[in-house]
Amino acid sequence: MKNSPWSQANQRRKRWSFLLPLAVAMVFCAEILFMSRLDMAKNADVVENWTTSFFRPRSLDGDVSVDVVRDVVGGGRTVEEEVSACEEWLEKEDAVPYARDFDKEPVLVTGKPKDFSSCSVPCEFGHSSNRKADATFGYGLEGDVPSILRSMESSHYYSENDPDVARRKGFGVVMTTSLLSDVPVGYFSWAEYDIMAPVQPKTEEALAAAFISNCGARNFRLQALEMLEQSGIKIDSYGGCHNNRNGNVDKVETLKRYKFSLAFENSNEEDYVTEKFFQSLVAGTIPVVVGAPNILEFAPSPGSVLHIKESKDVELVAATMKHLAANPDAFNQTLRWKYEGPSDSFKALVDMAAVHSSCRLCIFIATNIHKKEEANEKFHKRPCSCSSNSETTYHLFVRERGRFKTESIFLRSGNLTLKALELAVLEKFKSLNHVPVWKNERPPSLRGGTELKVYKIYPVGLTQRQGLYNFRFKDDLEFEKYIKENPCAKLEVVFV
Ligand SMILES: *[C@@H]1O[C@H](CO)[C@@H](O)[C@H](O)[C@H]1NC(C)=O
Ligand SMILES: *[C@@H]1O[C@H](CO)[C@@H](O)[C@H](O)[C@H]1NC(C)=O
Ligand SMILES: *[C@@H]1O[C@H](CO)[C@@H](O)[C@H](O)[C@H]1NC(C)=O
Repeated sequence: MKNSPWSQANQRRKRWSFLLPLAVAMVFCAEILFMSRLDMAKNADVVENWTTSFFRPRSLDGDVSVDVVRDVVGGGRTVEEEVSACEEWLEKEDAVPYARDFDKEPVLVTGKPKDFSSCSVPCEFGHSSNRKADATFGYGLEGDVPSILRSMESSHYYSENDPDVARRKGFGVVMTTSLLSDVPVGYFSWAEYDIMAPVQPKTEEALAAAFISNCGARNFRLQALEMLEQSGIKIDSYGGCHNNRNGNVDKVETLKRYKFSLAFENSNEEDYVTEKFFQSLVAGTIPVVVGAPNILEFAPSPGSVLHIKESKDVELVAATMKHLAANPDAFNQTLRWKYEGPSDSFKALVDMAAVHSSCRLCIFIATNIHKKEEANEKFHKRPCSCSSNSETTYHLFVRERGRFKTESIFLRSGNLTLKALELAVLEKFKSLNHVPVWKNERPPSLRGGTELKVYKIYPVGLTQRQGLYNFRFKDDLEFEKYIKENPCAKLEVVFV
């Protein structure tokens, strides 16, 4: 078993943390000093001068003189002036350069040739050079270089594809269909599936089509198929399993003629959702799913998917199918997303794939390299906030999911709320004329205009399962606590 370099980094980080309260206290004292001094300053230039010559060198030595504090109180700046001087100052002081500059020294991944065109962090693939790789495909090939596991197979067939098992085996980066993996590689993408293709008339007599070739799957899909038939659902089977139609056809074109499609996976594993499901969406046929227990999270809208989670569900699903087949309006309602567009949660999920998985891998690696550096003293010395008599201004770093670079956001203590965060993020990214990563990937009908809409904001480093589904700041209080406990917090935003 190998200890991955990143878990070692985490341990180092823990060892550091005992110094934190001390550092925070010192920065706090220095802040009082600084902001009182700000009152006197008549313009931002003077502030910068003073801060660079005074604040930085002494921020951690605790050399605070009460006399100095008394001397500098007063002055005639408005709160707005104070805050913008403070923001300017934080922008400068918190911009501690990283030792690793990816422009000069791109992320290097070995063991696979480059297979994508551009990425928001410079990144090289292949068997390059004299440089040590940052990560490598293939297990244990390069000493302490983290190994990458990449697979789209179910962990029910390949147990190490379970992220926990992979990490225990020493893989440093896990890329599987699991949204708990470091860099999820799903079957879904806008590029591969024309999700918004129009619905065609349902001309087949059988209610459902099935393309199942492996009859011996490790779940109850065969049993479910037989039970549906026993419930009086007529099924055209194009696969090797229960075959009654010639399978030599174009699958998606064929599915378009059916009201329902049996999207039966070979295993019931969380997030394991394959082309069977996405092709059904393209075809505008209602997917009847045996597979991922969380398949409803992949539904294009609520109520658009029928899920046979256990065999006891078959009866109800069969009844629903008959009902929908007999009621054109109800059937059409189920496919409403085809006309009105899918839900934000569906878009947010599929948008993940707008950035090539190899690029997301590079972003993941680069983020970890910088995170490791952030455990160093010079990063702990960053002020990350500044205070005046009335208020504290907090410095946050926010980036779009799928991009590496962060942008500065400032929040004030009087308004440290989730709503204010969202507005500050929108304002910042609007001011940059930011174009979301999915803009040219989504079907034209789902691209929207130039407006930005926030779907989620969560701390950098969370998995997509957490970021999209499980994590949220409970309320403003919890958010405020988080910002105070995580100086220069790094967040990720998903626009929809
Ligand atoms: C800033 O400091 C430099 C020397 O460090 C000095 O030459 C310059 O005049 C100062 N600027 C202001 C605006 O005080
Ligand atoms: C289905 O509903 C959409 C609107 O949601 C409508 O445009 C379409 O004509 C309907 N189709 C049928 C066959 O009723
Ligand atoms: C706090 O933020 C909200 C928006 O989130 C804004 O409407 C309000 O004016 C702000 N209040 C103060 C005191 O800054």
